[in-house]
Amino acid sequence: RAAVPLRGAHQAGIVTPAQDRLHFAAFSVVSGTSRDDLIALLRDWTAAAESLTGGRPVGTGVEPENPLLPPDDTGEAEGLGPGRLTLTFGLGRELFVGADGEGDPYGIRDRLPAQFEPLPSFALDLLEESLSGGELCVQACADDPQIAVHAIRNLARIAVGRAHLKWSQLGFGRTASTSRAQDTPRNLFGFKDGTANVMAEERDALEEFVWVGEEAPEWLRGGSYLVARKILMTIENWDRTSLAEQERVFGRTKLEGGPLSGGAEFDAPDFAAAKSGAPLIDPESHVRLAHPEQNGGVRLLRRGYNYVDGSNELGQLGAGLFFISFQRDPAAFVRVQRSLRHDLLNEYIRHIGSGLWAVPPGAAKGEFLAQALFE
Ligand code: HEM
Repeated sequence: RAAVPLRGAHQAGIVTPAQDRLHFAAFSVVSGTSRDDLIALLRDWTAAAESLTGGRPVGTGVEPENPLLPPDDTGEAEGLGPGRLTLTFGLGRELFVGADGEGDPYGIRDRLPAQFEPLPSFALDLLEESLSGGELCVQACADDPQIAVHAIRNLARIAVGRAHLKWSQLGFGRTASTSRAQDTPRNLFGFKDGTANVMAEERDALEEFVWVGEEAPEWLRGGSYLVARKILMTIENWDRTSLAEQERVFGRTKLEGGPLSGGAEFDAPDFAAAKSGAPLIDPESHVRLAHPEQNGGVRLLRRGYNYVDGSNELGQLGAGLFFISFQRDPAAFVRVQRSLRHDLLNEYIRHIGSGLWAVPPGAAKGEFLAQALFE
């Protein structure tokens, strides 16, 4: 029932110990929205977010003074408390340069950080436009799904006439731990996920790999970049694969999560170790290719969720991983994802949605989110 404060040096929902539930939403800004309208929207969203994360209803709540008007708050989270709700807001590149990349719809083009390049297309991408992009995003995480859904629903309602939902995703069962105080959860392939993640306790690593620094314009310092990838997992194929093959794909054991080179979950993998010539960890295993050693030392803060969107006409689960990572520079994600081109895991997954947003630092008391961008 605890509340996570909205305000601070960084936005909540990044190093906050990952909650169990997700509702992620991408918004399109309505054409004709002015710079002042956009600022007003961010102001309204900040005020609403402060109420919602505090466990309070938005506006005047569920009982308007005039009962002939619809209530300000939709009501379904009444009595549920804050549920550790965090709302993390991101700004898409189109907000700075327009849909064609040539414009300046809100007079902020000159504030675009040099690092904020669009994601390139990757080998094996099967992205659907209807699951990708959006000029604004909101990541709502909470321990109760109703609280997360209520938050997105009310933010969407507040945005009417200025921005509308483009796509959204529900997630459950966090697939990463972001604090040493948490147990490592499992993804839908049954493997522990988050073992080698950047953790909240690793102050130096957060500065180096997660928070944007001096390289960016002032408005983004202390912020981060959010990458989302909707990754479908072909569960039925996986479930017919031998345990030996499953462990080879990841380079870790299934039950304990230890590296195949030996040791317990948190022991470092030894990629060179071999009994009789062949390394014990396959050179094309997921863990080896994603490891900093293969990627110029780069680390990502992963904060994804499992999803199941029902099933298809063949009786297969529409299941997967809604991958979310936070990094200081989008190039870090690009580097790792490129290196995963030969990942053994690729036989069992498809990337079907994608987005990249700049995540401004936390709003100080009395300020609205991303205020410095407009000053
Ligand atoms: C590690 C699963 C996609 C980056 C791992 C581990 C698992 C896993 C089980 C080992 C435990 C751990 O350290 O967390 C998956 C699944 C994916 C997926 C099921 C897709 C459905 C991705 C993507 C990226 C990524 C798209 C980034 C582009 C990483 C990194 C590590 C990792 C950086 C840590 C490697 C290390 O330092 O040892 N993943 N992953 N993963 N994954 Fe993934």
